[in-house]
Order: sequence, then structure tokens, then C-alpha cells
Amino acid sequence: MIPVGDVCGLQGVVRVPGDKSVAHRALFFAAQAQGKTRIVGLPDGDDVSTTLRVIESLGARISDELDTDGTRIVVVDGWGADGPLPHVTPDGMITLDCGNSGTTARFLLGLLAGYPGKVSIDGDASLRQRPMQRLLDPLRRMGLSCASDALPAVVRGTRDVQPISLQTPVASAQMKTALMFAAMQAHGESRIAEPAFSRDHTERLAETFGISVEKLVDGIGIAIRGPQTSRAPKEPVRIPGDPSSAAFWIAAALCVPNSDLTIEDVCINPTRMGLVKALQSMGATISVEQTGVFGQEPVGNIHVAYTERLAPCATSAGDSATLIDEMPVLALVCALAQGKSRIANAGELRYKECDRLDAIIAVLAACGAHAEAIDGDGRNAGIDLAICGNGALRVPDGITASAYRDHRIAMMWAVAAAASHACVHLATEEIEAIAVSYPGFLDEFSHRLGYAPIVCIE
Ligand code: S3P
Repeated sequence: MIPVGDVCGLQGVVRVPGDKSVAHRALFFAAQAQGKTRIVGLPDGDDVSTTLRVIESLGARISDELDTDGTRIVVVDGWGADGPLPHVTPDGMITLDCGNSGTTARFLLGLLAGYPGKVSIDGDASLRQRPMQRLLDPLRRMGLSCASDALPAVVRGTRDVQPISLQTPVASAQMKTALMFAAMQAHGESRIAEPAFSRDHTERLAETFGISVEKLVDGIGIAIRGPQTSRAPKEPVRIPGDPSSAAFWIAAALCVPNSDLTIEDVCINPTRMGLVKALQSMGATISVEQTGVFGQEPVGNIHVAYTERLAPCATSAGDSATLIDEMPVLALVCALAQGKSRIANAGELRYKECDRLDAIIAVLAACGAHAEAIDGDGRNAGIDLAICGNGALRVPDGITASAYRDHRIAMMWAVAAAASHACVHLATEEIEAIAVSYPGFLDEFSHRLGYAPIVCIE
């Protein structure tokens, strides 16, 4: 255990990798576009590398350039009107491995709705467990053939994609985006309505790539008329910092004494700001200042400082999609607050890289805090996460823990350990999972903290 007096706190300015959601979308749009798209600030996490590899296998040509100031630019020369797989006959079949990336797999299913050849899609053990049926059902109505409801799956699309009108059962930006990629290839207007707002990066990037998308006037969602082909934008696409990666720094700075930190150039799109909003309601010292725009995305600096007393929070069901990936760290901060918090509509956590609802409850239990999944209150039919905060986290120094091979749970452990000035032992593969979204996180976090909160067990 590190004596509290020796904790230096997190100070200064930090930058996080480019936003994973924006990056996947930029690559998918660029791959489908006519012409060359330059992308600046692409993150180097495993998930985005998977999308790069997949679009390359489908026929996009990828190269690297250096800007005059040495910045790396990834250039994607899209297949445009030729369509994907120009080099494969419709009878030949290729296999695409989506690794751990649910976003890659789902976007791919939507994209392939318009490709009349056979493609086999697979992923790792975690991805094979994740739900695909709620996306595959509407894609089948649009013309995609697929015998399986999970990965591995062999799919065959059609040149005659049908438009669709539907209300999605949950607010899922992955599902909305996959359906939009299919709808871009359909003949006629598709309408995709959602029960609440999900992240809208696809809608914003569509404009950059010359695709026309309209907001529904009679509900939440979009209308899109196909067929439309994306056009490579003249200006480079700049990827802002990932607020879901910033979340770990935010939570740590709030919980580690003597911290005062600024996270620069973060995407502050309102559909991603649920964590900041929840923390502000808890009395946290946190503020956001917009400094510019990258394309259609607002970008800014997030300033956060150690806050000794935090009130509990109660998020609303409609906010859950705006903080879905931040629920692990929000739950951790709630355990440090004084009183009972409730994170509404947390049921989707069961379908992430692991069952994150159970994982969060287990991590908090190991930190001496009680959390449980409870039925939503009348206005919300889903599952809520209730957390009893008692003003402290007690991570036993030197414990061996599990992160369920989930990058966000592994980073949650790093924050929990830092908040208790303790050291947690994780297996090599748990630590390696962090590279899915944030390869350099542990090194930089340990360096800035002045000690290693996570140690690898052989
Ligand atoms: C994502 C949407 C969310 C999120 C995931 C990335 C996206 O998933 O959890 O990490 O980029 O669209 P759902 O849309 O399935 O909720």
C-alpha cells in the first residue's frame, strides 16, 4: 500500500487516443467512397486495426502518408461504384475475422447487405457470444441471407436491397449505423426510429461524405433515401480524442487526492457526454470547454480535479446510451459517493465484451462496495444498477483480480487501485485486453501516478 502522503495525484495535461466510434465510421464510409480519404488521428487500438484489415480485405486500398509536421495520415482509397470485393467472383467465398470488435462485425453485416457474394464472418470467443439476431432480423427483411443468429455466420447480400421502416428495441448506435449502411444501398426511403438518442457520429460523418440523412420529425431517429454512394471529402477527416478513454482519467482524477488534470481535444458530442453530466450532478469538480470542431464533431478540453465529497447520482433511462461505455467507471465513482446511486437502464451491459453488469458488481464487491442489478422503476422496464456508496473504496493491496478479458473492466481496475493507493494483480491476457481501445494507457497512467496500480501475474 502506498502511503497517502506519497500520492502525487494526476496533474497537468493529457491527451487520449482518437475516438474509436468515429474512427470505425470514418473507415467504413471511406471504404465505400469514390476517391481517396485522408484520416488524421486514427487510434491504434486493436478494434480499429481490425476494421482497417477488414476493409482492406474487401477491396479498399490503405496507405500511410506523413503530414508536413510529421503527423501520420491514413489514406483510404475506396471501392466506390465498383462495390466491395471487386477481385472475388460471387461464387468464391472469403472469411473476415472481426476479432473482439462488435462494431466491426455489425457495420460489416449492414454493408454486406448489398453485396451478392458469400462472405463468412467470425470473431473471437467473446464476439461469438454477442447478440446479432436483433440486427440480422431487419437485415434479412432488407434482403440479406444468413442462416445463423450469431457468429460465425455466412452471409449473402443482394443487389436488390429493400428499404425498411422500423423501431429498434434499444437505443443502439451500432444497430442504427449498420442499418444505415444497408439503407444507403436500398432503392427507396428507410426510416430507423429509436427509443432514445444514441451516439450520432454516423449522421455527422454522413454529411462529410456527401450522404444525405434526415432527422425524423415525429420521433427520435433518421430517414435515409437510397441508393447513395459516399464521396471522399476534400479535407482530411480529423478524429477527436475518445471520451470513453478520457473517462478513466476523469474518474481517476476525481478519486485520487491532489489531482488536477486537463484532458485535451476530446470529442464533446452531447450524445457522449452522459458521464460528465452525471458527475456534475454529483458535485464533482469537472468542466468542459469547447475549443473547436473537427468536421461536424465539437471538440474541447475537460478539466477535472479531486473532489472529496461526492453526492450519489440517479441517471435517467434516456441517458443510458450516452454513458453506456462509461458505466463501469461511473459505478466506481458512485461507490465513493455518500449514499445510494442508481444508474438506469443498464441491462445492455450484459451484451458487451463480457457481461459487464456482473463484472462491475464483482469488481465493486472486491473493493468493499455493494452493488446490485434491480428492476427499473415503472417508467423504465429495463434493469438498473444500484450502488451503495460509503465514501471509500477499499481495494486490498496485492489482490489477484479478474477483468473478464474486457478492456474497460481492466482499466476500471486500474482506477480502483489508484483510488485506494493499492496494487492489483492481473493476468497477462487481462492486461493485453486494454489494447482493444487504449494500448498505452497503463504505462502512461502508472508514470503519471508515480507507481504501478496494476501488476502482471505470470
Ligand atoms: C458503439 C455503440 C455502443 C458502444 C460501443 C460502440 C458505436 O454499442 O457500447 O462500444 O460505436 O456505435 P451499442 O450501440 O451496441 O449500444
